[in-house]
Amino acid sequence: MNPHRLIVSAVVATGSSVVTYAAPFELPSLPYGYDALEPFIGKTTLLTHHLKHHAKYVATANTLIESGSALLKNLSQEQIMTAVSSGVELHTENVGLFNNVAQSWNHNFYWHSMKPGGGGKPRGLLADKIEKDFGSYDKLMGEIEKAAMTTFGSGWAWLGFDKKSQKLVVTKTTGAGNPLTDGITPMLTIDVWEHAYYLDYQERRQNYVNAFFAELVNWDFAESNFIAATANDTGETEEL
Ligand SMILES: [Fe+2]
Repeated sequence: MNPHRLIVSAVVATGSSVVTYAAPFELPSLPYGYDALEPFIGKTTLLTHHLKHHAKYVATANTLIESGSALLKNLSQEQIMTAVSSGVELHTENVGLFNNVAQSWNHNFYWHSMKPGGGGKPRGLLADKIEKDFGSYDKLMGEIEKAAMTTFGSGWAWLGFDKKSQKLVVTKTTGAGNPLTDGITPMLTIDVWEHAYYLDYQERRQNYVNAFFAELVNWDFAESNFIAATANDTGETEEL
């Protein structure tokens, strides 16, 4: 890997960095096996979701970047998303570019938002901040489950950190949307596109959302993102 092409991402996963580089982007491996989330998310769902849907977004993003401006070839996925949403002319079809780059990013973030043997409650600094900003873990759960359930059609529910207000926030995006374009740093996400749950749960999104938080959610990943987002220039996390 050429270090000059590295553009640092704000996103760091526990044990393995989630970092994007300039194009061409690669399909990242799952951080666990295809059957590792059974019985809550089946092997067939993960194989299709990763090797068909996620792979297609990555391939289409690379095709669009290849036909776009030279500038595009030096940008990370995060930079492309925020450039498109800010109206920067990138000499390609911007809606398609945003959708495919953002879906590439969102899926990688989603894979890390789950782990085999996940679930339970957040701990440490993130747990303290949830208590402070939402009042309790249960109140956070109420908000994030509501966001997941009320996303109309396809989209994502997120726990994010708003640097302006210095508060954790729950948000939802439709289609390929990502909170980064609103200045919010993602901590955790759940994919509520039907392709994420239909084979296992059919139309019962609530059952999928329940299983995600009870059995799969990776709070260690969310806490590592929170620590990265709130670290000062010396790398220390400031009291908020
Ligand atoms: Fe998906």
